[in-house]
Amino acid sequence: MTADTTRAATPPADSAEPGTAAPATAAHARRGVLEVGERVQLTDPKGRLHTITLEPGREFHTHRGFLRHDDLIGAPDGSVVTNTAGVEYLALRPLLSDYVMSMPRGAAVVYPKDSGQIVQMADIFPGATVVEAGVGSGALSMSLLRAIGEHGRLLSFERRDDFAAIAQGNGRAFFGGDHPAWTVTVGDLVESLPRHVEAGSVDRVVLDMLAPWECLEAVADALVPGGVLICYVATTTQLSRVAEGIRLHGGYTEPSAWESLVRGWHLEGLAVRPEHRMHGHTGFLITTRRLAPGVTPPERKRRPAKGAYGDSAPTGEPDSGTDGPDVLTDGSDTASDSVSDTVSDTVSETASDRGRPARTPGSTNAMDVPVDAWTPEALGERVKSDKTIRRLRRSVAGTSD
Ligand SMILES: C[S@@+](CC[C@H](N)C(=O)[O-])C[C@H]1O[C@@H](n2cnc3c(N)ncnc32)[C@H](O)[C@@H]1O
Repeated sequence: MTADTTRAATPPADSAEPGTAAPATAAHARRGVLEVGERVQLTDPKGRLHTITLEPGREFHTHRGFLRHDDLIGAPDGSVVTNTAGVEYLALRPLLSDYVMSMPRGAAVVYPKDSGQIVQMADIFPGATVVEAGVGSGALSMSLLRAIGEHGRLLSFERRDDFAAIAQGNGRAFFGGDHPAWTVTVGDLVESLPRHVEAGSVDRVVLDMLAPWECLEAVADALVPGGVLICYVATTTQLSRVAEGIRLHGGYTEPSAWESLVRGWHLEGLAVRPEHRMHGHTGFLITTRRLAPGVTPPERKRRPAKGAYGDSAPTGEPDSGTDGPDVLTDGSDTASDSVSDTVSDTVSETASDRGRPARTPGSTNAMDVPVDAWTPEALGERVKSDKTIRRLRRSVAGTSD
């Protein structure tokens, strides 16, 4: 077992003495005039964005003139400033969604459209105790911290020390210091979670990682009865594997899954239409809830569609004669039996055991794929080199320390 490292945040806000600095939640810095040390987003006449950090005496240069930071320090949010060549810039504080899209990234981030869904559909509430893994670049962590507030607890776990450092640097830059509700632990979730939380004490768990099904047992132990687990996965093979893992576990409700597509609109005079480009795919979300201890999930009265769990109808199961999923059974031969039997078959037997052709190497059946085959590259992620990660880590430490 490997030891994990926890980097605690500053003491909880409610332990601060009167008159001491405000907790680093960035709440106080969301209003008022622009101040030294703040990030400001400048939009030029062509709609291009430039982010600067305000420093007295500094200048922002482009090939067409420059503007002085001093002209912005003390100005209201939403000001327009003109540079030495007469070019106008709109100056605004970045929103959280602007910030996460422009901050240094070690790993791929959860996009704002999905963070919004996660906060809403996992019912992240003020004061909640939330567990998150992995932390990656910290984009989702910031939305979770916003939702739980300074009196909640976000316990984030990340296997990679370098990614955890980048995420914490990003958090400090956004919140203006260590958020009082945030603890980041470097370690594998399955090993670290039981050491950091009491069984049955966590309200919500959010998993954004390659193999969330490996964590289902540890998460079930940590969650309160009725607690919500939400997983964000990039591919249908992962989605299928985690859904079956949830069903097989037996301590969770029937999962539900979806994706969201957001299409921006072009608004110019009479040319009001969808944008030509959009992010066609980010990821899938799947949620389930923890059952009370000792409770088994209610029997499913729906028979899965023929072929849903393999190449042919489940062994010993009569063919339902339908191709849709919504056929009620008489209860004596339940769909839940057929689901769990068939899934365990798929896990424990080889295809040839059941008289089917053996799968060829490189099979894309999610249940057959060995653990070490779920790599970022295999799932189509663009992986950054170690050199790039080291540079990002240095840049984040430089801007936030
Ligand atoms: C896609 S990134 C997370 C991005 C993050 N949600 C964000 O919005 O910035 C996935 C991370 O999970 C971490 N990870 C994968 N399996 C893990 C595990 N079992 N325990 C802890 N971290 C894990 C990886 O190292 C990686 O940094």
